[in-house]
Amino acid sequence: MLFLQFIFLDVVLGGSITENVVQENISLYGMLTSSYANQSWAQNRGSAWLDDLQTHGWDSESGTIIFLHTWSRGNFSNKELVDLQLLIRVYFSELTLEVHKRASQLQFKYPFDIQVRAGCELHSGKTTKGFLNVAFNGLNFLSFQNKLWVPSLEGGIRAQKVCDLLNNDEGIKAIEYYFERDVCPRFLLSLLDAGKMDLQRQVRPEVWLSSSPNLELGRLLLACHVSGFYPKPIWVMWMQDAQEQLETKQGDILPHADGTWYLRVTLDVAAREAAGLSCRVRHSSLRDQDIILYWGHGLSVIMIALAVIVPLVLLIVLVLLCKKRW
Ligand SMILES: *[C@@H]1O[C@H](CO)[C@@H](O)[C@H](O)[C@H]1NC(C)=O
Ligand SMILES: *[C@@H]1O[C@H](CO)[C@@H](O)[C@H](O)[C@H]1NC(C)=O
Ligand SMILES: *[C@@H]1O[C@H](CO)[C@@H](O)[C@H](O)[C@H]1NC(C)=O
Repeated sequence: MLFLQFIFLDVVLGGSITENVVQENISLYGMLTSSYANQSWAQNRGSAWLDDLQTHGWDSESGTIIFLHTWSRGNFSNKELVDLQLLIRVYFSELTLEVHKRASQLQFKYPFDIQVRAGCELHSGKTTKGFLNVAFNGLNFLSFQNKLWVPSLEGGIRAQKVCDLLNNDEGIKAIEYYFERDVCPRFLLSLLDAGKMDLQRQVRPEVWLSSSPNLELGRLLLACHVSGFYPKPIWVMWMQDAQEQLETKQGDILPHADGTWYLRVTLDVAAREAAGLSCRVRHSSLRDQDIILYWGHGLSVIMIALAVIVPLVLLIVLVLLCKKRW
């Protein structure tokens, strides 16, 4: 996921981990969303992200940046951060004014949303590339490329009009160019450096199995739950001995509140074929020691536990009741 992890993994694991477990690109970007309810009312929201990890929020009441981690300031000075904050404040207020002013001319019908995603991407820890994309009501509208504003196909004639306006403004173009070429890459690198303890941490997943009867008679849906791992790249597969079960279905990797991840991987099988299947988990935190859980084994342990615990609890309750009586 992070290039630092990439290097780390390569050193520690000698590249032994499957290719899809590492990702060499990382981006830092801001998401600025403005919702326009009517001629006189708009709401602005902002956040910044390192790939999937939110690093900053925006307090729109006070117009200030919220630093979500101890390392969210990177190595930027207070002055630089205050300038950045001011830039965002000006952006939101100017945008709101201009949009309200030109809404009817551009045939923007209230209510509508304008969303800007702007930042830079680091490739293999070396070169960076800036990007800025604008969406109108969730559809691509325009973008900034090679110092020019370019309309998207979906944006139509309205996007063309907005680009014509923006391309006449050398000031805005210069600011955006400076931002994506200088400020963003510097901030990205310094965040990766300042946050490396957090970003390079390795947290082992917990793995458990479950099943539910399928609609079709005699079939089972086996689920392998993998929870609490970090970083995000992971490989999970249902196996029959050494054979990958290609019908394995992988869900979305979902976030936990603490920044770790959860994944559920399922396999639809005939009930009598379930014995002998296993769920195999490969993750950087496990080094080369994959976790392998066999279907049936885990269940029988639970069954044994239940068989012991349920009578025990009943016995205790009975004893307590009798004591009360006497
Ligand atoms: C990283 O970015 C480069 C350049 O855009 C691209 O060719 C490559 O496929 C990307 N790698 C991953 C793993 O996304
Ligand atoms: C504009 O929208 C806001 C938020 O929905 C609402 O509270 C307000 O009454 C609306 N004003 C007008 C003039 O419609
Ligand atoms: C901040 O970090 C960046 C990237 O790591 C580096 O290029 C820059 O020199 C650093 N600036 C200061 C003032 O330390």
